[in-house]
Amino acid sequence: MDSILVTGNGPLNGQIPIAGAKNACLTLMPATLLSEEPLTLTNAPRLSDIKTMTALLQSLGAEVSSLQDGQVQAMSSHDLTSQTADYEIVRKMRASNLVLGPLLARFGHAVVSLPGGCAIGARPMDLHVEGLEALGAEIELKDGYLHAKAPGGLKGGVHEMRFASVGATENIVMAATLAKGTTVLKNAAREPEIVDLVECLRKMGAQISGEGTSTIEIQGVDRLHGATHQVVTDRIELGTYMLAPAICGGEVELLGGRMRLVESFAAKLDAAGVSVEETDKGLKVARKNGRVRAVDVVTEPFPGFPTDLQAQMMALMCTAEGTSVLEERIFENRFMHAPELVRMGADIEVHGGTATVTGVERLKGAPVMATDLRASVSLILAGLAAEGETVVSRVYHLDRGYEHVVRKLEGVGAKIERIKGQ
Ligand code: UD1
Repeated sequence: MDSILVTGNGPLNGQIPIAGAKNACLTLMPATLLSEEPLTLTNAPRLSDIKTMTALLQSLGAEVSSLQDGQVQAMSSHDLTSQTADYEIVRKMRASNLVLGPLLARFGHAVVSLPGGCAIGARPMDLHVEGLEALGAEIELKDGYLHAKAPGGLKGGVHEMRFASVGATENIVMAATLAKGTTVLKNAAREPEIVDLVECLRKMGAQISGEGTSTIEIQGVDRLHGATHQVVTDRIELGTYMLAPAICGGEVELLGGRMRLVESFAAKLDAAGVSVEETDKGLKVARKNGRVRAVDVVTEPFPGFPTDLQAQMMALMCTAEGTSVLEERIFENRFMHAPELVRMGADIEVHGGTATVTGVERLKGAPVMATDLRASVSLILAGLAAEGETVVSRVYHLDRGYEHVVRKLEGVGAKIERIKGQ
């Protein structure tokens, strides 16, 4: 297994290009199942999660081809041969469950494995099921699989979600595009990836309004057609690299970044003493003097502070002046990076969903282990700011969500290399 060697090397300066959003791409790809005609995505990131979704769509009979080094993903679901998402693929990646809504809407039936436990919490699918049932689907759990059917087709309805789940919103919106009549989804998630999905569905002929607010209205249509869509910028990759100059000092411009994608996160950086400024090419982040100040963080659905940046923010708080409290409200078990950061000299106490971090002057390099995608990159950020060498093992987690991480950080002056495993 490969590992990453990071050596603390002082301030970072230069530019980092930000890729298309993994999480947007993972919901845009299943949207191809809604139409017989091809869907082409430009700006698709080169990540192992995208390969997993490709394998899942291919297992259903879709044609998927990556052109230009993965930047363009062309998909066609003309001749689907299966409506079953197998456990072997779904267990690798929870986002596989996003084929449920589209398959059910187009074919009137679908069988999708439950994802099972994952490192950051139980992550059930009850909210997806409740939403699809409100559209007239009948769903049963048998042998670990959700068996969904809607013999007479899906029908629009009014549904209020108990929690604004991102994935459930995406599944319900996709399903409702082909339902008879109008669907009103209340307490919908407002994430930019959902806005991106709706923009793509609209290009395919769907009639949707209200995306980006907590009420989305979908007027069902008989069929959707092909389209070409550019995937929105990855706000989590953006936020992660915004932390690189924050933690090491220096000034880095994140190309393609926009403030509207990271408003609440940028406000926290500002409060910590890091400047964030929008330029015509992206976002410029700088820390010129002294240590950052401790700030408290509570993770919330968008537009609140994203859970997917909590681990990276904790790495920054490890060397802040003062004590910060980080409260994780989205996932119940998402502090697995804390003991690894402690190995590097951090002072962190975790009680349930709350971590209290007292900043130390300097972290010290150590061998550490990545436990999930965002934890892995938080350890890299910590290593960049630490004295000496940090070796992060189990970096396959990193490959799920960060393309060319070594090249991007080297480009701004970091000392980082990938070490090939056996
Ligand atoms: C998506 C993102 C993930 C991010 C998360 C929250 C993708 C591919 N992944 O995941 O990176 O961390 O949003 O911003 O877009 N829940 C239920 N029942 C359900 C569904 C969810 O209880 O039916 C719970 C989950 O266990 C979790 C919380 O709701 O505690 C948030 O989950 P959700 O918003 O659905 O996240 P995902 O769509 O899985």
